[in-house]
Amino acid sequence: MKIHGVRGAPDIGQPDLDEYWKVVEEKARALFARYDYEEIRTPIFERTELFVRAIGEGTDIVEKEMYTFQAKGGESLTLRPEGTAPVVRWYLEHGRSSQGPFVKVYYIGPMFRHERPQAGRFRQFHQIGVEALGVAAPEVDAEVIEMLDHFFRKDLGLAGVSLHLNTIGDAVCRPAMRERFVAYMRGRKDELCPDCHVRLEKNPLRIMDCKNPQCQAAVAGAPRAAESLCEACRGHFDRVRELLGAMGVPHQLNERLVRGLDYYTRTTFEFTAAGLGAQNAIAGGGRYDGLVETFGGPATPAIGFAVGMERVVHCLRLGERLRPAKRRGVYVAHADEAGAGRALQVVRELRDAGFRAVRNLDGRSLGRQMAQADGWQFAYCVILGEKEVQGGQATVRELESGTQETVPFAHLTEYFTARPDEVAAG
Ligand code: HAM
Repeated sequence: MKIHGVRGAPDIGQPDLDEYWKVVEEKARALFARYDYEEIRTPIFERTELFVRAIGEGTDIVEKEMYTFQAKGGESLTLRPEGTAPVVRWYLEHGRSSQGPFVKVYYIGPMFRHERPQAGRFRQFHQIGVEALGVAAPEVDAEVIEMLDHFFRKDLGLAGVSLHLNTIGDAVCRPAMRERFVAYMRGRKDELCPDCHVRLEKNPLRIMDCKNPQCQAAVAGAPRAAESLCEACRGHFDRVRELLGAMGVPHQLNERLVRGLDYYTRTTFEFTAAGLGAQNAIAGGGRYDGLVETFGGPATPAIGFAVGMERVVHCLRLGERLRPAKRRGVYVAHADEAGAGRALQVVRELRDAGFRAVRNLDGRSLGRQMAQADGWQFAYCVILGEKEVQGGQATVRELESGTQETVPFAHLTEYFTARPDEVAAG
């Protein structure tokens, strides 16, 4: 019986893995190191309670999308739907709050949400996330956002990227903001879709995000969040925008930007990219100044973001910004038993030198071995026919151009050492 993979959880294979995924990860690691972030790896499952309390009971993620299961001891565990709550748990559990005022970390890995799969939306997807905990200054918001902007526009060379910025207030001004919004929407309840009726009671600000045209029309005249901001939040946001301007980070104000997680305060943002259809957010983030305290820690302002890897890779593929697949490595082809012994010796030497090398193992004809070497995108084929074995020298064929040279066995490793880009492994 054939067993299929799980819907919404695609395999990631070659050449995509080497040409896009690893490149994006390497560029992220190099960038974060320059901004002095350290990498951490948290488990892919946590206690369910962690996500329920951090993300919020009325959110789509907690209500509908979590992969929750009961472990043998009866404990409820959940595959992580996001990385911020685990980082906050890690921060408290490892006493990082007492080790200095500023902790800056990043993580790369799979996340799980039971959403309806569609283009750009998966049930297992990958995030590159960054969290900076401990400093409230708007300078941090600006630096975090500038770093992400640098990543997309300069490191990856993505075109058509836009930054949408908003502020949603804090514990001081948000309650009044929410109340005014709810009072207005109650007056227009009849116009709302059934989902928004529920949202009105549980998570009213999410109505702003509803795609239903009637709900959008109802929201259009609602009181603007900006009108309810307290002075401290207003001042913070103005300064963030001023700093971004000074750093040359283009952005647009989007007062309807509400994020799908409850922990946010003040600055929120999303990067979108052109050409992705409905799922066009390639990263999202914001401040979460109250989250550490929610879990019993000291008052700790914090901000972060997460990049959706699948969507970024898709963008790169659309724009073909990165180089297409490149031939690499050496395929050692041989004709008979004597050649097989020599081939084993040659691949051993090449691998010891750090090169990607394979030899034929299934005894097919020399011609078919060369065709295989070409199909597998090797850069070179070392041919060990009868003539070569007797003469003590190999024929080295460059597969793309078809040009051939004769190289004595003793000089083969040296020959490839002079061509490291074409033969190096990894
Ligand atoms: P989020 O907006 O839920 O934020 O996710 C961040 C990014 O992950 C999205 O912009 C999108 O690119 C990608 N993403 C989310 N769900 C899916 C999916 N089902 N399939 C494919 N890609 C997806 C967070 O997760 C926050 N933890 C970000 C954050 C960090 N805020 C502060 N610190």
